Amino acid sequence: MTAPTALVVVAHHRADSLTAHVGDVAAARLKEAGYAIDLLDLRAEGFDPRMTEADQPDWDDRDKAYSPEVRAHMARLLAADVIVPVFPVYWNGVPALLKGWIDRVWNYGFGYGRSEPRLAGKRMLWLGLAGAGDGDEFAAWMQETLDRVLREGISFYCGIPDSAVAVLHDAEGESQTVDAEGNFSKGAPLTGDARAAHYAALDRRAEHHLEAFLGL
Ligand SMILES: Cc1cc2nc3c(=O)[nH]c(=O)nc-3n(C[C@H](O)[C@H](O)[C@H](O)COP(=O)(O)O)c2cc1C
Repeated sequence: MTAPTALVVVAHHRADSLTAHVGDVAAARLKEAGYAIDLLDLRAEGFDPRMTEADQPDWDDRDKAYSPEVRAHMARLLAADVIVPVFPVYWNGVPALLKGWIDRVWNYGFGYGRSEPRLAGKRMLWLGLAGAGDGDEFAAWMQETLDRVLREGISFYCGIPDSAVAVLHDAEGESQTVDAEGNFSKGAPLTGDARAAHYAALDRRAEHHLEAFLGL
């Protein structure tokens, strides 16, 4: 029996980001669980998130041949059993790099617009990193918003009902709060052992989300 494949999509503009690190942690955990890994680092692969004429849907032709680059991404999606986008939460949503990948690749006639969805049967865990703490007054609202847009608006809409959104809170080395007047303040930066423990716990939470979602 061939190993199932996990497509881990890293959406960050810096190679040394915490997001890229969590992408590596997720890939390692999936590999340990027996998955073959396809690590798609959108920055490293030079993916341009801007929509192009070639990849714009033609509502009269769901069989439109999109650009070779986008077709290559579609093939990687089709080959995956599990899809795990790893991204920083920007404005309660995904960063432009990931949004553009969805816009261009999860396209009409491929992601949606067919009676039998091409992506049916796949599973998807959206793994977002957020600066806000889980006790922050925005946290529940952010989770709800991400859930609506990503799990329902994208995964479910594209034939993947088995999906979830997990948020790793406190993804900064120092706590952040916004008071009633809108003033932003940062706590003392973590250093030394406390910093190492903070990031180790974050790695562990990322692994835990994968384990819980996939039953590892
Ligand atoms: C443009 C921008 C928008 C952001 N929006 C949010 C937000 O809506 N909610 C939140 O909790 N954090 C927000 N953050 C904080 C990021 O989620 C956080 O810095 C990131 O997850 C840290 O990971 P990184 O070091 O890999 O970038 C935002 C950061 C930026 C730069």
